[in-house]
Amino acid sequence: MTMKRMKTLLAVACLACGGTAVFPAEEQPLYRNPSESVEVRVADLLSRMTLQEKILQLNQYILGENSNVNNIGEINSSFIPGLGSYIYFNSDARLRNEIQRKELEVSRLGIPLLFGFDVIHGFRTIFPIPLAQSCSWNADLVRQSCAVAAREARMSGVDWTFSPMIDVARDGRWGRVAEGYGEDPYTNGVFAVAAVQGYQGDSLTGSGSVAACLKHYVGYGMSQGGRDYEATDISAQALWDTYLIPYEMGIRAGAATLMSAFNDIGGTPATANHYLLTEVLRNKWGFSGVVVTDWNAVEQLMSQGVAADRKEAACKAFMAGADLDMKDFCFKDHLEALVTEGKVPLARIDSAVARILALKFRLGLFEQPYTVEVPDAKRVLLPAYKEVCRQLAEESMVLLKNEAGTLPLRKKNVAVIGPMADDRENLLGSWSAQGRVEDVEGSIYENLRAELGPEARVTYARGCAFDGTDRSGFREARKVARKADVVVVCLGEKKSWSGENASRSTLALPAIQEELLAEVAKEGKPVVLVLSNGRPLELCRVEPLCDAIVEMWQPGIVGGKALAGILSGRVNPSGKLAITFPWFTGQIPLYYNSRQSARPLQGKYQDQPTVPLYEFGHGLSYTSFEYGDLQLSADTIRRGEKLKVEVRVTNTGKVDGKETVHWFVRDPVCSIARPVKELKCFEKRTIRQGESQTFCFEIDPERDLSFVDSDGNRFLEPGTYYVMVKDKRVCIELLE
Ligand code: NOJ
Repeated sequence: MTMKRMKTLLAVACLACGGTAVFPAEEQPLYRNPSESVEVRVADLLSRMTLQEKILQLNQYILGENSNVNNIGEINSSFIPGLGSYIYFNSDARLRNEIQRKELEVSRLGIPLLFGFDVIHGFRTIFPIPLAQSCSWNADLVRQSCAVAAREARMSGVDWTFSPMIDVARDGRWGRVAEGYGEDPYTNGVFAVAAVQGYQGDSLTGSGSVAACLKHYVGYGMSQGGRDYEATDISAQALWDTYLIPYEMGIRAGAATLMSAFNDIGGTPATANHYLLTEVLRNKWGFSGVVVTDWNAVEQLMSQGVAADRKEAACKAFMAGADLDMKDFCFKDHLEALVTEGKVPLARIDSAVARILALKFRLGLFEQPYTVEVPDAKRVLLPAYKEVCRQLAEESMVLLKNEAGTLPLRKKNVAVIGPMADDRENLLGSWSAQGRVEDVEGSIYENLRAELGPEARVTYARGCAFDGTDRSGFREARKVARKADVVVVCLGEKKSWSGENASRSTLALPAIQEELLAEVAKEGKPVVLVLSNGRPLELCRVEPLCDAIVEMWQPGIVGGKALAGILSGRVNPSGKLAITFPWFTGQIPLYYNSRQSARPLQGKYQDQPTVPLYEFGHGLSYTSFEYGDLQLSADTIRRGEKLKVEVRVTNTGKVDGKETVHWFVRDPVCSIARPVKELKCFEKRTIRQGESQTFCFEIDPERDLSFVDSDGNRFLEPGTYYVMVKDKRVCIELLE
């Protein structure tokens, strides 16, 4: 055996133990030395790589059994030597370690693989869907849930999550509305920051963190008619003042990666959009992380009509600024020829490879390429994880209606009816990673029975399925309702009705569910409607039949218990909507922060309301909060100064409660028309019964009063601004 071969084997052996002393000190390459900076290590490693080795790093493939029905791919348990990354469809670390070991045995330079996965609202401990999470208005809880997800995922072999999704979404027909944080740019931005902090922690190294990925850059939430993957038409102004905002916030928070979107914007697909991927992202914002394409999106440039073949697609996407090609191997198959032909400069290859290597160094993969294999009991579903899950579920549920104090339930003879009533699976929601039905801690019915205890009478009838025309269960449902004092009707959506490729033409529940409610209501008992769904719903026909309505969303594994707590009054609901509920689907688009109409009193629909059923920020409590007038620290302000606005909020009811104060700003006269109101700050606090607390919004004019133009330039114009909380408003004057 030659000396060189011997050293290579030694190096592999050391890597396999996670060791670092690969070469005698004087011969140890710089990139192997963890005390060198990431920049030095990357430069050194890059200088040793061949073009072929570099190009392989720019590709991602799948490993394991693909559980996402929309991304159909073969089951893969083998590996392609030298590849940069895999999507890891598996629930423990074994397969990852096996493939990593094989890679490190053959890799000339010992470059570890990077494993990514869609950990969207939990890995095994499944939290409420992101849309629900945003209704909690509790960024700290969201951060904690992402930290839990990160730990479970990393300990199971995943280094990188394709989350958070921060596509501002205003069309509930789009199934992916469930995956983001609602209709408001600032709200998406705040939760993007929380998610990045939770996933990435203080450092990407170690078992407690994963790299985050902001997606889908950008405008995907605007897919026409809510139909997934469709083209979008977004004005440059809307791009800058709505869709890009959360991305900029997530990048400033240090997100390690970003995913380009499927959609085209005005004819240029996001995957091949040089303006967005390079001019804005790199040159303007200075983002130095990895840009991954979406699944097969490079190849899809052909379907989108901007590339004649895979080679042209590879060239366009890569030269626009994409670094890592997800799944379709266009980069692997064509970049070498494109370099030879002079269409792709070597410097561009190096910059993309450098970013991927930097991520691997930052994740500590060169020092610790393997995941320590830990049994399930020590890795997932720990009691502390479920505790975060319970809190988030409780805080994200929204009490939409509560006539005459129907809730909390006072009667102990309760009928629980409907297709969601005894269902566990659909509580998980879409994109539930490695979540399992058996992890769900009981259905609504089971939890309510446990909550109300043996002295209560809790009966159940399914009534009907989620859809279809079978009314044979109606009779039984009515019978059960007749014998009860109060009826809890549990309706909603199957988890597969939202998420990717799950658009619906209407926000209404299937007619059979509405009919069931109408039938049961005929018994004349108080009706509490519980909704579990992944989008805002059209409730115009069912709302008048209900005394109370609770939106529980798809709340994850302990959602049944959280709901039971709200129904019984053990938990005081505190969620508020982060997305508008229209009366009718035909009102879409309908969102709180639209611009003022030229004729505000005219132009309404003649046949339908134009106001929402439940507006952004709506959510009731079992207590009442009274707001004082807004108090200003000064009426005028100049650039560079700060001004405080305060509001005193008193809990005037009979129980403790949590209240979120939303601070809105409006610029009524500006050189371009601004929205009627824009959320600039929010805060949630517990206020004890009888207690008053002062909430404060410190206005920084550059941050809170400025606007962005269609080129992304910020302006701050002197003049009057309104600051608003609920129905309270004050004026401030920004001086020259
Ligand atoms: C396609 C989806 O659009 C994206 O969100 C996801 O991360 C990838 N597939 C990988 O599963």
